[in-house]
Amino acid sequence: MRSTSAAIVVLASTASAQLYPGQSPYNHTCELQNPLLSCPPQDPLLVDSCCVETFGGLVLSTQFWSTYTGGESAGQLLPQDTWTLHGLWPDFCNGSYTQYCDLTRQYDPIPSPNTTTGKPDGVPVPAYNGSNIGTFLEPFGKYDLLDYMDNYWIAQNQDNPGFWGHEFSKHATCFSTFNVPCYGPQYRKHEEVVDFFETAIRYYKRFPTFDWLEEADITPSNCTTYSYEEIRDPLVKQHGGLPFIGCTGPRYNTTEAGKNSTDNGYTVLSEVWYYEYVYGRPQEMNTVPVNASATYYTNCAKSEGAIHYPERTNGSVRVPTLPY
Ligand SMILES: *[C@@H]1O[C@H](CO)[C@@H](O)[C@H](O)[C@H]1NC(C)=O
Ligand SMILES: *[C@@H]1O[C@H](CO)[C@@H](O)[C@H](O)[C@H]1NC(C)=O
Ligand SMILES: *[C@@H]1O[C@H](CO)[C@@H](O)[C@H](O)[C@H]1NC(C)=O
Ligand SMILES: *[C@@H]1O[C@H](CO)[C@@H](O)[C@H](O)[C@H]1NC(C)=O
Ligand SMILES: *[C@@H]1O[C@H](CO)[C@@H](O)[C@H](O)[C@H]1NC(C)=O
Ligand SMILES: *[C@@H]1O[C@H](CO)[C@@H](O)[C@H](O)[C@H]1NC(C)=O
Ligand SMILES: *[C@@H]1O[C@H](CO)[C@@H](O)[C@H](O)[C@H]1NC(C)=O
Ligand SMILES: *[C@@H]1O[C@H](CO)[C@@H](O)[C@H](O)[C@H]1NC(C)=O
Ligand SMILES: *[C@@H]1O[C@H](CO)[C@@H](O)[C@H](O)[C@H]1NC(C)=O
Repeated sequence: MRSTSAAIVVLASTASAQLYPGQSPYNHTCELQNPLLSCPPQDPLLVDSCCVETFGGLVLSTQFWSTYTGGESAGQLLPQDTWTLHGLWPDFCNGSYTQYCDLTRQYDPIPSPNTTTGKPDGVPVPAYNGSNIGTFLEPFGKYDLLDYMDNYWIAQNQDNPGFWGHEFSKHATCFSTFNVPCYGPQYRKHEEVVDFFETAIRYYKRFPTFDWLEEADITPSNCTTYSYEEIRDPLVKQHGGLPFIGCTGPRYNTTEAGKNSTDNGYTVLSEVWYYEYVYGRPQEMNTVPVNASATYYTNCAKSEGAIHYPERTNGSVRVPTLPY
């Protein structure tokens, strides 16, 4: 979901089950480790990469605003007055990133891109056709987690579990700290999947985008439009760093309002990505908010009143069955 990003996709060792082969499966008692900061990057040869994020130290907590799901007839609805969870991504400290880092944990039914590099000569990412990743939570009895995900982690034009599988295999397999050997000799199959979902949700809950905007009187409207700064400023104030603010829809200068303008930014608010550095494991949430890249912090139009924050479609929304 980041094909338009200016970030550069870097080749990682992909087919290996471990980001750092040869890593001991035993000693990852992170309570005994100094919780080092994830950026600038730590040397994986000198630290326990299970206890500090040494592969993707710039952690992005990402959310969507959308007006429909495409799965309404199957009961796949958006949570009222809440942005939805997109994912938790490990970027390199320099802002580039890798994807599908462990093809032995490929649970994405619709790999996107379909090779590890997104180019024809990359390693192919085979489509997953097994039981959906949501079923992995059942042996752990995590039905409340599943329920939460069904309310707040919502796919567009895809079933929710397929999207969760996409997020896990494309992104979570690239964290050093969610790597299988980190769970030690007591590891239970798919334990890291549960851990990742719980962690992604913990970050999501920390950043209530809808409420932050609403407190600044920025609410969905099909009549009013907003300026980039009006959306940005409350989010910066609440989060502490500049998030990436993403838009879709027509470019401003192709719309009636933007005719004759040189502003070709997009005009429909759709995403926010919050950036963090992390002390120790991302699971522990000891984070430092940081700014999005100075060269890629929005693709939205900057002209006054150029941005739509659309109301959702009637019939695409429900009151969540459990609290945010
Ligand atoms: C983990 O334990 C093994 C075996 O005792 C040892 O060789 C290795 O240095 C330890 N690794 C770390 C990162 O402490
Ligand atoms: C960014 O960092 C990664 C990991 O250290 C490195 O492999 C890559 O070459 C760097 N990319 C750029 C553009 O500097
Ligand atoms: C990836 O998708 C492209 C475009 O649909 C297709 O041409 C290509 O064969 C696919 N590659 C793999 C490895 O599936
Ligand atoms: C399911 O995927 C596996 C692994 O990629 C493949 O070997 C198998 O043929 C697929 N089965 C079906 C029914 O598509
Ligand atoms: C665009 O330029 C034309 C011709 O100069 C002018 O008539 C029109 O009012 C302008 N439109 C806007 C939206 O500024
Ligand atoms: C929109 O703006 C871009 C960049 O300023 C310019 O290249 C493009 O020609 C403009 N398009 C229209 C339809 O005015
Ligand atoms: C983010 O950028 C602003 C404006 O340039 C700056 O004042 C602030 O210190 C930066 N924040 C962080 C966390 O780097
Ligand atoms: C608001 O506008 C969006 C996009 O144009 C549309 O999909 C949605 O149904 C509208 N919402 C309402 C409540 O009219
Ligand atoms: C959506 O519902 C609201 C409230 O019932 C109504 O005012 C509005 O006209 C509806 N919009 C559409 C596009 O049906």
